[in-house]
Amino acid sequence: MGFRFGRAAAVAAGVAMIAGAALAHEHMGDVPDTPAAKAVVARHQSFKQLGGAFKAIFDELKKDAPDKAVIRANAQKMNALAGQEASWFPKGTGPEAGVKTDAKPEIWSDPKGFAAAVQKLQTETAKLQQVSVGGDVAAIKAQVQATGGACKGCHDKFRVPDKD
Ligand code: HEC
Repeated sequence: MGFRFGRAAAVAAGVAMIAGAALAHEHMGDVPDTPAAKAVVARHQSFKQLGGAFKAIFDELKKDAPDKAVIRANAQKMNALAGQEASWFPKGTGPEAGVKTDAKPEIWSDPKGFAAAVQKLQTETAKLQQVSVGGDVAAIKAQVQATGGACKGCHDKFRVPDKD
């Protein structure tokens, strides 16, 4: 108990939300047999991995004695995924792909802005990996918040907000 995440508990809740499975899409129905539709499904799986790794770190940080090896492994995973993120958005995988996606058309109409948001995540996950190797829990917590900010920064601009 007594877990406070930096200054604002609301930030911690926000990070948990970003990482949470509640935001993930399940593709139970038919997915059109096209490269674009398959790319959207693969993208969702990649984001689930990214969110899952983030949540794993977050869950450790809530413990009195966080397992630093778990944090390190997941920070490394996040950084590797962040390095691939740009490739998850090939042209034609927006709403026109014919499968549910929250990717906004702005991703492709504002490629510079989107690239900057991807770069921001990569910068923050690289730092997260670095501090997780260092093992200073306070530094890791601070960097988790910064990383959550990079997720949110892109979601606010380039992702359709969830209505459910
Ligand atoms: C550069 C932009 C960008 C960054 C940075 C980003 N996301 Fe996303 N994220 C998106 C977009 C766009 C979607 C919607 C994808 C879709 O529906 O096709 C999304 C969707 C998701 C989803 C839902 C996947 C699904 O199955 O519908 C999760 C979970 C997620 N992101 C987690 C994260 C986490 C955690 C981070 C930070 C560690 C992060 N994202 C950083 C753009 C980004």
